[in-house]
Amino acid sequence: MFEQLQPAPPDAILGLTEAFRKDARPEKINLTVGVYKDASGQTPILRCVKEAEKRLLESESSKSYLGIDGIPEYGRLVRELLWGPQHEIVTSSRAVTLQTPGGTGALRVAGDFLHKLFPSAKIWCSQPTWANHPGVFKAAGLTVETYPYFDPERNSLKFDALIEALQQIPAGDVICLHACCHNPTGVDPTPEQWKQIADVVQERGILPLVDFAYQGFGVGFDEDAAGLRELSRPGMELIVASSFSKNFGLYCERVGALTVVAASAETAQTALSQLKICVRTNYSNPPYHGGGIVATVLQDAELRSTWEQEVATMRDRINGMRKLFADTMAQKTSARDFSFIKNQHGMFSQSGLTPEQVDRLREDYAIYIVRNGRINVAGMTEDNMERLCDAIASVL
Ligand SMILES: Cc1ncc(COP(=O)(O)O)c(C=O)c1O
Repeated sequence: MFEQLQPAPPDAILGLTEAFRKDARPEKINLTVGVYKDASGQTPILRCVKEAEKRLLESESSKSYLGIDGIPEYGRLVRELLWGPQHEIVTSSRAVTLQTPGGTGALRVAGDFLHKLFPSAKIWCSQPTWANHPGVFKAAGLTVETYPYFDPERNSLKFDALIEALQQIPAGDVICLHACCHNPTGVDPTPEQWKQIADVVQERGILPLVDFAYQGFGVGFDEDAAGLRELSRPGMELIVASSFSKNFGLYCERVGALTVVAASAETAQTALSQLKICVRTNYSNPPYHGGGIVATVLQDAELRSTWEQEVATMRDRINGMRKLFADTMAQKTSARDFSFIKNQHGMFSQSGLTPEQVDRLREDYAIYIVRNGRINVAGMTEDNMERLCDAIASVL
C-alpha cells in the first residue's frame, strides 16, 4: 500500500530550520522559527518553570490519567488570566475550559467541535494568518475563508476593508482573530478598533474564535487581552484557544487551553459535554507535565511574580530589538523606511523583503528568513545586528 504514496511537501518553516542547522557558516542568523531567543541566542527554561518542576517532582504521587478536560483547577486559573479574577465571565460560570496539548490542540478541538455540531459554519481567517490555521481547520472538515487584514504598502492594518468584510460574513459563521501579536505581521488593532470589530461581530451574530498564543508578549498581560475583553460582552458567546508555549517557554511540553464561553452556565456545561467527546476520540485526555507547571506557577504568589517579571524581560528584549533594528537600518540605508517595525507587537513582523531578497540573504549571507518575508525579531541580538542590517541593506 505504501509504495503508492507520493511525498508530501516539507513544512515551509521547519524545512528552513533544518537547512539552518546544516549550514556550516559560523556567522549564520536564524530569523525563521517561532521561538523566543535571549540575547545569547538561546531559548531558555524560565526560572519559575524550573522551580515548579522541582516542586512537582517532589509532590507527584501518581501517573494515573487526568480527566478529559485536564487538571481540575487549571480551567479557573486560565480564565482568571484571560479576563482577570473579577470579570463576569469568571464569576458567572458561563465559561468552560479544557487543558489541551498546546494552542494547536485547542484549535483542532475547536475545529472538530464546530464542524461536528455546526456543519454549515465556515471559518474566516485573516489574510495573512499563521500558516497552520487553514491546515488545522481544514483537517477538522471546516471550510476556510479569508478576510482582509494587512496592507503591505503601508505595513498597517487594512481596517476599513476588514470592517467591510466582517459586515458580509453570514450569521453563524466563525471568525478567527489573533488576540495580540498577530502572526505573521505583528500588526494588532487598537483598543478603539477592537471596539468597532466587536460591534460588527455582535450585530451580525458571528462567533469569535480568539487565538491567544502570545499573552504578555505585546504590551502586558491585561493590555494584550483588550481585544478579547472587548469581545466578551454580556451574553456574547465566544471561543478562546490559549497557548502557553511562548509565554511560559514550554514549547515541547505541549500546553494550552480551550475555553468556550456560552450565554449561560447551563449551556456552557452542555458545550463541555460535547467538547469532551471531541477530545476523547482524538487524544483521549491531555498530558500532565506542562499543565502541572502552568497551574503551579499561576497559583503561587511568588512563582507568579517571578513569571511576570520573566515575561516582561522577554517582551522588553523583543521591543528593544525592534528599536535597534529600525534605528540601525536607518543608518545603513535610505532605500526603505523600517520604522514601522518599532510600532508592531510580538515576535513577528512582515519585513516586506521579497522571496528573491530572502533567497540572496540565505545564499550570500547565511541569514535565514521565511520566504514570505516574515521575520522573528527575537532572533536578533546586539551582536548580530550590524551584520544583519548590512546584509539587508545590500539586497534591497
Ligand atoms: C498564532 C498562533 N497560534 C497558535 C500557535 C500554536 O502554538 P502551540 O505551539 O502552543 O501549539 C502558534 C505558534 O506558533 C501561533 O503563532
